[in-house]
Amino acid sequence: MVYKAYFSPTGGTKKCLDILVPDEEGNIDLAKKDYEEDHVLCKNDILYVALPAFGGRCPSLAIERLKRIKGDGTKAVIIIVYGNRAYEDSLIELYDSVKAQGFIICAAVTAVAEHSMIREIAEGRPDERDKTELESFRGKIKKRLNENKEVENIPGKRPYKPLSKFLPPSTDSTCIRCGQCYLACPADAIDQMRPDITDENKCIGCARCISICPINARGYDKDKLNGVKGRIAKQCEKRKDNELLM
Ligand SMILES: Cc1cc2nc3c(=O)[nH]c(=O)nc-3n(C[C@H](O)[C@H](O)[C@H](O)COP(=O)(O)O)c2cc1C
Repeated sequence: MVYKAYFSPTGGTKKCLDILVPDEEGNIDLAKKDYEEDHVLCKNDILYVALPAFGGRCPSLAIERLKRIKGDGTKAVIIIVYGNRAYEDSLIELYDSVKAQGFIICAAVTAVAEHSMIREIAEGRPDERDKTELESFRGKIKKRLNENKEVENIPGKRPYKPLSKFLPPSTDSTCIRCGQCYLACPADAIDQMRPDITDENKCIGCARCISICPINARGYDKDKLNGVKGRIAKQCEKRKDNELLM
């Protein structure tokens, strides 16, 4: 059976994964609130795992949840989706984490999606050009999986770059307390009765609450967001292509 495990707070990671692997069997949603699933895969299964890059690393909540998926020499393909800045050590971190769970990593993909924190960066991606690129990887990956070879030379360094602290979104006075952000938050960081209270120790800054709020009452602090924009703008200018590493 083919499994697709993904952590996709605002949907970009899942979009890229679905282009690469259109089958809908075996979905494992690692960003589900109160994720409590254990999966044991057998030798003949195949696992595709897709995570976003956050500060050039994998979201630690996703890495924790990945520990509940075990392989038995099972073949896997790892995918990092990033917002056209840089993926830095996230791919090698995902490689190490999946390998430690008993998988053989046959191929790795990096793909670009709209930047979930600063939506005007890589806006509209994955676009048609990305779709064509990612679709062209499908056959090559299948062939590689049949060859039983491990991927070599994953970019990134160990020890990984330090984890960053991300901006926790907040709620403005237009909030109608519908509770949708509370229900959707992967990190359980939002108070059910008082959605204006975000637990900054739990919040991973993933932007899901911002993207699902029906009345746009949630957002990052504008000045702080502008600060981040200014710091990363130069690095995001040039369009980055999707990559297949084998
Ligand atoms: C807190 C945070 C940190 C991010 N860090 C990076 C980064 O280091 N490099 C980058 O290119 N994109 C970065 N992004 C953009 C995401 O990797 C990208 O938008 C990804 O598609 C988000 O996945 P999702 O749409 O499945 O939530 C970051 C986004 C957020 C919210």
